[in-house]
Amino acid sequence: MKLWTGRFSKEADKKTNDFNSSIATDSRMYKEDIEGSIAHATMLGLQGIISSEDCEKIIEGLKQILSDINEGKLTIDPDAEDIHTFIESTLTQRIGDAGKRLHTARSRNDQVATDVRLYLRTLCEKTDAQLNELTEVLKTSALKYAETVMPGYTHLQRAQPITFGHHLLAYYEMFKRDIERLSDAKKRMNVSPLGSGALAGTTYNIDREKTAELLGFDSACLNSLDGVSDRDFCIELASVLSIIMVHLSRFSEEIILWCSWEFKFIELDDAFSTGSSIMPQKKNPDIAELVRGKSGRVFGDLMTLLTVMKGLPIAYNKDMQEDKDAIFDAFDTVNMCLTAFIPMIETMTVIPENMRKAAAGGFINATDCADYLVKKGLPFRDAYKATGQLVALCIDKKLTLEELPIEEYKTVCDLFDTDVYDAISLETCVSQRLSMGGPAPENVKRSAK
Ligand code: ARG
Repeated sequence: MKLWTGRFSKEADKKTNDFNSSIATDSRMYKEDIEGSIAHATMLGLQGIISSEDCEKIIEGLKQILSDINEGKLTIDPDAEDIHTFIESTLTQRIGDAGKRLHTARSRNDQVATDVRLYLRTLCEKTDAQLNELTEVLKTSALKYAETVMPGYTHLQRAQPITFGHHLLAYYEMFKRDIERLSDAKKRMNVSPLGSGALAGTTYNIDREKTAELLGFDSACLNSLDGVSDRDFCIELASVLSIIMVHLSRFSEEIILWCSWEFKFIELDDAFSTGSSIMPQKKNPDIAELVRGKSGRVFGDLMTLLTVMKGLPIAYNKDMQEDKDAIFDAFDTVNMCLTAFIPMIETMTVIPENMRKAAAGGFINATDCADYLVKKGLPFRDAYKATGQLVALCIDKKLTLEELPIEEYKTVCDLFDTDVYDAISLETCVSQRLSMGGPAPENVKRSAK
């Protein structure tokens, strides 16, 4: 049943009705819609805007609807215009005139703005819990691999030695920032628009602070036009979710590289890999690839929200009904990705020997060799040049810096002595990188505690 039949002489066209309806998306907010209505009715009762008998009937009726939906005794009508319409008309069917009083001093515009905030609050909590689980997994692994030497890369070229624990902690820092960003966005979202009415508040003596408090909001919004037309919180959350996906996607990219035969730094558990329908030898990192691919969806959701909102005059416009599809999809996608990603990381096998082998090639101790000369008094630029000559010599002779005889070193610079071998050993290179935030095992162990 429509809520707005009075001035209309015809039923809506069936196809138009389907086009106009948002029930397929917003029925998942039924709990929040009922919660919001209970708070609104409670306030109307307290303020004497409706009688206490009506107030009680409404609240009882709403609670019954909630438990009936929960228990599968009441099915949400797929032809209803939206969840707000469905709950209100079911209530009126069940309790009569009292049900018709629920919408006093309220509009679907402030109602939907309230419901979405309440619903997203729950989704934020779920994402927050998943991110915390991921950071714990990363910390535990980082501790385990605090001493595992691997090459660090720039431009995907071996650059300087680091530890695998250090590498994992880089992601730990990223996801920790994501947790902060999420809670920050939640703070701005947790403001009640209820009581903004359609756009211009109401002439009834409502108590907006009361409904805000009953619904666990930190405060009530200060402008009714802004209250119904603000979707910044959706955009902000979609941005936070997009950044999470950037991090997951970069991590996935590395996982994909690491389990290739070219790297073989890790092996994914069979439970988190897939095979090929034709090539019997294949073990593919599909989960990581899907996570990388799904980042596109979430960025798309953010673009949807930005584009929907950018040209809208104040206050509510129906365009805004599109907000839910986008922000729910963004949350669902992040949730699905994290659900698969966390155990994939937790169960992967690390192959330290291969990391070590890769670290031994590519002259990743060249900076340390230059630093050795600096410590003997040579200015860094001269030390850099001398080491460059040594690397060229090594390439020519097909040797590593560790293998190059001391006599050769001395032809380039007479400050070199046999203690250079200790200075450029990978263990020294890593354990001496003790600068704040550096990869030394000691640092990693301290950070991962
Ligand atoms: N289903 C609508 C939405 O999701 C609810 C608000 C409807 N308000 C209106 N004036 N048509 O945005």
